[in-house]
Amino acid sequence: MSAGDPSGAARAERLLAAARAAIGNAIAPYSGLKVGAALEDASGAIHPGVNVESVSYSLTLCAERNAVFGAVARGAREFRRLALVSNATTPILPCGACRQILYERAPDLIVIVPKEGGYEEIPIADLLPRPFRDFEPSR
Ligand code: THU
Repeated sequence: MSAGDPSGAARAERLLAAARAAIGNAIAPYSGLKVGAALEDASGAIHPGVNVESVSYSLTLCAERNAVFGAVARGAREFRRLALVSNATTPILPCGACRQILYERAPDLIVIVPKEGGYEEIPIADLLPRPFRDFEPSR
């Protein structure tokens, strides 16, 4: 593998490192759970996201949706992988709302989370079986 064509493992580690680097930017004074995400688009560009909590708690935005919305605002439309890390003692997986948004924007997305010194790759379609899909309203 050449330096310009990193292996799957190298790409996963690079994405996890970007997610870890983002954690410090999270704003989580209420839960204490700081979350970092890194979303790789089809060009290989990485879009970070962090959770941003609100004193009006339900307005909080998760790291994954923050990453997706920021990437979309920058013009990205196709996504390959998302790495997710936090300051919790055990790995976390995307919440239900984030699974829906991730699936809608990238049904073939691979979610990467740390696991026992390595990492685990989970298809978003496995995390959100039978998703709510685009529909045709009756007239
Ligand atoms: N959080 C995320 O950023 N992503 C998830 O998938 C689950 C939850 C954040 C939201 C809130 O700031 C904190 O974690 C505790 O729920």
